[in-house]
Formats: sequence, structure tokens, C-alpha cells
Amino acid sequence: MNFQESIMSIAIDIAKNGKQKVSPNPIVGCVLVKDGQIIGEGWHAEYGGPHAEVNAILNAKSNPIDSIAYITLEPCCHEGKTPPCVEFLYENGISDIYIGTLDPNPLMSGNGVRRLKNLGINVTVGVLEKECKALNLGYNKWIQTGLPFVIGKVAKSNDNKMGADNKSQTKITGYYANQEVHEMRANVDAIMIGKNTAIIDNPHLTVRHVQGTNPLRIILDTNRTLPLNLNIFRDNYTDTFILCTEKKFQKHRTSFGTFIPVKEDPNEKLNPKSVLECLGKEGITSILIEGGPLLMNSFLKENLIDKYYEFISIENIENGKLFSPILDLNMWQQEDVTILGKDKRVTYVRKEICLQES
Ligand SMILES: NC(=O)c1ccc[n+]([C@@H]2O[C@H](COP(=O)([O-])OP(=O)(O)OC[C@H]3O[C@@H](n4cnc5c(N)ncnc54)[C@H](OP(=O)(O)O)[C@@H]3O)[C@@H](O)[C@H]2O)c1
Ligand SMILES: [Zn+2]
Repeated sequence: MNFQESIMSIAIDIAKNGKQKVSPNPIVGCVLVKDGQIIGEGWHAEYGGPHAEVNAILNAKSNPIDSIAYITLEPCCHEGKTPPCVEFLYENGISDIYIGTLDPNPLMSGNGVRRLKNLGINVTVGVLEKECKALNLGYNKWIQTGLPFVIGKVAKSNDNKMGADNKSQTKITGYYANQEVHEMRANVDAIMIGKNTAIIDNPHLTVRHVQGTNPLRIILDTNRTLPLNLNIFRDNYTDTFILCTEKKFQKHRTSFGTFIPVKEDPNEKLNPKSVLECLGKEGITSILIEGGPLLMNSFLKENLIDKYYEFISIENIENGKLFSPILDLNMWQQEDVTILGKDKRVTYVRKEICLQES
């Protein structure tokens, strides 16, 4: 790693302080270097609050004039909730700027760089670009398509079962895998489950085993038949969205959650694409689908999942009837295998996405 990359990796680390606090905005980190020393660090800390560049300049230990800024994302050049950062960088005498990645918003991309160059600032784009892009997988997709980035996750046995049957809950993986799932939850805007899982598992869907903020919960309840004594409706740990058909929708907000009307499919289930469009309109940029198999299969079938995780135990479930979806390996590329105690986690990325990124 060269000097520029090592400073950008610090900017990437501090950007993560904004996780789950700025959505649907991107997380961003900025480091100021003067005479080879770091003199200021800043990140985008809250939605609508000052941007990373402004915080780094305001936090600087010494006058930032003639310093070099390392920013994970192209600075903004439009009036938003805050004044444009390109002007602020210029007014404070920043001489050079290293940028991780361009703004993925097609209407903005490259404008910040052009404006900085016109103001006489030296600009280099693409330092640790892949890592900087990976900070905002949700935002990157949402700003370009209006749809959230969708992650699927299943726990399955060695013989590909998600449980004994669809009437009971089966514990499949151990402590380390559960901890990893909670880490994944802490990195998304929302978790989604189907109606049957809501009834049978009666989960809280919170982040308990790691530090982090509980994401929003989304339940697909076509005809609004879920009993209201479920944990998700009563525990107040975080908000819950209940998705139902337009016919069954009555009012938006109640004490136990927010109802959202969604188009229905001919099979009388909620249309998966419409589910994502409605959630995108609510400003949700990333979703973790935690099942069960009916829900997962309906999103896989429509090609709406971007990344997929299998947590696999070494045990079999003899006579198990709840089969895990089988991925079409023409469409999916295995990215990683991680050992988690006795279990393992296999990560797949949709090939189309790998092509877009390369
Ligand atoms: N091992 C694992 O990773 C894991 C994870 C989660 C759950 N589970 C297990 O899975 C079982 C339940 O799974 P399941 O497959 O029977 O049900 P599910 O996926 O949890 O829920 C399916 C139900 O959601 C509603 N729904 C609405 N729109 C839908 C759509 N577009 N696609 C699919 N469903 C839609 C439908 O009910 P309505 O039309 O009536 O609303 C549907 O019957 C339980 O035994 C649970 O313990 C295992
Ligand atoms: Zn800005």
C-alpha cells in the first residue's frame, strides 16, 4: 500500500462511523494531510448534517491552507441540505484532492471533479476505488435505480435444508454464525421476512450480539392476517413496516407499525419488484432478506437479489422437508468462504454485478 492508499484507508475507516446514521445519504470519510502529517479527520455523521469534508476542515488542528484532502467520495457541488463542499474546500485553501470514487448519481457524477479543477485544485480520482465503492453498496444502487441493494441470507444444513418443516423453527448454526448475522443486520437499512417466519419464529430481528443500530423490520403480510401479539409488533426495539395489498391497506401509521400498500401478483402474493419500488420510495437503500424459503425463492426467481449468503452447518436434517433455494451457478459467482466455528459462510455475488464493477 502506498502513502496515498494508506491515508485513504484511514478515510474509509472513519467513514464507517456514519453507518446507519445518514441513510439514504452515503457514508463518507475525509482526512487532511499537511507536511506529511494528518491535521484533520471528519465523516458524515448524521442525515442532513455537515459533510465529511466540512467536519475535517472544522476539526483541523492547524490552518488547513495548502493541505491535501483524501475523500472517499467525490465532493458535492450542488446546494443540498448543506452548502456545496467543493466551494468550502476551495475557500479553505486545499491544494490537492485524492478521491476514492466518483458520485454514483448519474446526474452529478464528475461534476464535482470538473468544478474543483476549474478552481485550480489538483484532483486524482480512484485511490482504493473498489473499497470506497463498497462502503455504499446500498446508496450506489438506490441512487441509480430507485431500488434498494438486496442481500439474501439463509441458514442451512449440510444436506440443504432450512429446517425440519414449515411449521416449526429449527436451530441450525452456532454462536459465531449468529454473531456474523447480527453484524450483517447492523450494516443494512432494513431486514425483511415473510408472514410464516413472523408467526413461527416470532423473531425480534434486532442487533443483539454486536454493537450497532437495529435496522427497520419489514414483514410481507398480503392480507393483513398477522396476529398483533408478535414480538415485532410489541417490543418497540425499532420500527416495523407491514406490506399488504392495496385492497387491504387502510391507513399508513398505527402504534405497532407502518402499513405500505404494494401491487399484488396473479398468485395473490405481493409482487416482489413492487415491494422493492415501494421501499426505495421510502428511502430504504439496503435490505437483508432473512426468509423463509417461499419469500427467498420469489425474489430469486425475479432476479432481484444482488448478494447471497449461505450459513452452512456440518449436521444433516434427516427427513427435513424445508429445502433451501438452489442457486443457478450460471448467474452467481462464489466470492468467499469463511469458517465460523463449526459452521461456514459461503458468499455469492450475482455475476451481472461483478461485470458492472469490473
Ligand atoms: N433456515 C433459515 O434460514 C430460515 C429463515 C427463515 C425462516 N425459516 C423457516 O422457514 C419457515 C417459514 O418459511 P416459508 O417459506 O413457509 O414462509 P415465509 O417465506 O416466511 O413466508 C411466506 C409468506 O409470506 C407471504 N408473502 C407475501 N408476498 C410474498 C411473496 N412475494 N413471496 C413469498 N411470500 C410472500 C405469503 O403469506 P400471505 O400471502 O398469507 O401473506 C407467504 O405464504 C419456518 O419454518 C421458519 O422457521 C428458516
Ligand atoms: Zn458535500
